Amino acid sequence: MDKLVIEGGKPLSGSIVIQGAKNAALPILAACMLAEGTSTIEHVPRLLDIDVMLNILRELGCRAEHVGDTVVLDTETAHTSHVPESLMGQMRSSIFLMGPLLARFGETQVYQPGGCAIGERKIDLHLEGLQALGAEIEEIGNRIICRADKLHGADIHLAFPSVGATENIMMAAVLAEGRTTISNAAREPEIQDLQKFLNAMGAKIMGAGTDTITIEGVQSLTPCTYTVIPDRIVAGTIMVAAAATRGQVTLLNTNPAHLSSLIHVLRRAGVQILVDGDIIKVGCPGRPRAVERVVTAPYPAFPTDLQSQVMVLLALADGVSILKETIFEGRLKHVDELSRMGADIRVDLNSAFIRGVPRLYGATVEATDLRAGAALVIAGLAAQGKTIVEQIHHIDRGYDCIETMLSRLGARISRYSPVPKN
Ligand code: UD1
Repeated sequence: MDKLVIEGGKPLSGSIVIQGAKNAALPILAACMLAEGTSTIEHVPRLLDIDVMLNILRELGCRAEHVGDTVVLDTETAHTSHVPESLMGQMRSSIFLMGPLLARFGETQVYQPGGCAIGERKIDLHLEGLQALGAEIEEIGNRIICRADKLHGADIHLAFPSVGATENIMMAAVLAEGRTTISNAAREPEIQDLQKFLNAMGAKIMGAGTDTITIEGVQSLTPCTYTVIPDRIVAGTIMVAAAATRGQVTLLNTNPAHLSSLIHVLRRAGVQILVDGDIIKVGCPGRPRAVERVVTAPYPAFPTDLQSQVMVLLALADGVSILKETIFEGRLKHVDELSRMGADIRVDLNSAFIRGVPRLYGATVEATDLRAGAALVIAGLAAQGKTIVEQIHHIDRGYDCIETMLSRLGARISRYSPVPKN
């Protein structure tokens, strides 16, 4: 297994161009299935999760190439709607194929998806939404069979604004007969990007970004060329890393509006942030201040995907902070690892009580999931001495060569791969 070795204590400095958003690219690639022919998707990051999605699409009969950050995907030759269990189990986002496959083939067979172990991660809202559109669903063990001779529009109220369920229902409803309304829909920027993409293919969707999305079904969609939005979580990770190392970093190709809750928290911590168009400058010359209370919640509130990274900054801040996780029940596993580096954090239910320490110390730690792994990298960059981060395949799911990205900002970080046996 690869690991990252970090010599900490060096402030990050320089500028960096932010990669395309994984969480926007994944549903968009799945949505290509809705239009027979070749779509070109630009600004697609080179990540394990994207590789898995392209492998699933190839397994279904599509032709897919990922050259640089452009994916050329021909879905005309797709011949099956059955996703193999081995691929389905490799990531949560495989579930995005359910809506498009059902819409295109009238049936699909998938399995319970895999993904980061950060909580129960049910898919009941996806299934209820598809049922409301007319699908019959049969669950046999972890196999899910979905059938619908014809999908029809429906009024769907989500009990919770699930990002994935909102996207799956949107993708199934675009080719359904009549109008679908999703209320209490998730409002994340990635949903707005999916709406833009589907509309570019000829769909009629309104309201993404608000809590009510309306989809007028159309007969067919046509392939198109589309550019994915910048990754707000990667941008946020770099911003926190810049602050935690007391560095000075300029981020290019960002959408600052997507990062307003993070910018607010960082400013409260005393971090200097300048926004100019799609450029964000982050500087933190002194020790950050504690932030009384940060609570994760659906967009536009503070994102769960930046909770672990911000915890590192607060672990180094002057004073006591409280960080509450409300989205995933198992998302505080990095606390134990940060404690091994000298952090003073106590967990009570889903809240972390963080007493800032003047410094963290290098240690050997394990990435328990994608964002927890990113947090440990930030901790290693800020710590005194050497940190080894193990199980970094989790990090590779969401960051395009994190060590290259950070080395360009002056970090002393390298990847070690085990020597192949003869
Ligand atoms: C997406 C993001 C992930 C982010 C999360 C929350 C992608 C590929 N992933 O994940 O990075 O952390 O949004 O911002 O976009 N839930 C149910 N039933 C369902 C679906 C969800 O109970 O059918 C619950 C989940 O268990 C969780 C909460 O709703 O507690 C949020 O999940 P959801 O918004 O669906 O997240 P994902 O789409 O899985």
